[in-house]
Amino acid sequence: MIDIAQGPVTAVTGAGVSAESGVPIFRGEEGLWRDYRPEELATLGAFQRNPRLVWEWYNWRRELVSECRPNAAHETLARMEKTLRDFTLITQNVDGFHQAAGSENVLEVHGNIWRTRCTACDYLTEDHRVPLADLPPHCPECGALLRPDVVWFGEPLPRDVLDTAWAAAAGCRVMLVIGTSAVVHPAASLPTVALKNDAQLVEINPAETPLSAHAHEVIRDPAAEALPGWWEAHRPGQARATA
Ligand code: OAD
Repeated sequence: MIDIAQGPVTAVTGAGVSAESGVPIFRGEEGLWRDYRPEELATLGAFQRNPRLVWEWYNWRRELVSECRPNAAHETLARMEKTLRDFTLITQNVDGFHQAAGSENVLEVHGNIWRTRCTACDYLTEDHRVPLADLPPHCPECGALLRPDVVWFGEPLPRDVLDTAWAAAAGCRVMLVIGTSAVVHPAASLPTVALKNDAQLVEINPAETPLSAHAHEVIRDPAAEALPGWWEAHRPGQARATA
């Protein structure tokens, strides 16, 4: 049995953790990348060619997320942060649902859709308005184009966030991998780093991924359905009481 009392616990989440909230995932039959081409919407080149089109897509996603709410999986992860002495949450998601559910320290390796930054100066702001008026928006400080503060394909991940995530992966005793297809690197390498350092891996995902064969426990159920029960069975005190 997975024992989370052994030491640091790290969780890595992907689009699947927000699926039961109503936010579409990227890959698979229902995924966004079935109807949209990432190179036309989620690259710097696409933004330089047609900033309005890219902003319209992000505006649409912001509206979509604003109509959804965090689910029981996000809430359970927030509870884990409050209960466990050493817990790190790493997410590839840009929807901000972990913070909305109460998580305080979230390593967002792909940025956040509610933050906007200037393409020319240091201007960075959080803006929850939906829809955004006047697309594409311009910097109030210098007049240059603003862009979503997210990581696009081909761009480096924020160095400090990635370094902290890497250290948490290397140092954990248990890693939960929830709702990610585990194919987009470098985030997809974090579970491999944990495994190399002898962590126990728990995967929660209704579908098989490249990680499944290496996981110590695989839960083939949706996250909002599975995680609360898993936490009840494993949280400190509970495990001892049932032993
Ligand atoms: P994907 O869309 O690639 O994968 C979502 C995963 O969630 C799949 O493995 C599904 O089986 C699983 N899933 C679906 N519903 C679930 C549920 N209710 N509970 C648990 N799991 C569920 O999304 P990511 O792996 O997050 O990057 O994608 C990684 C990155 O690729 C994203 O951050 C984004 C994307 O293109 C950028 O935009 C840079």
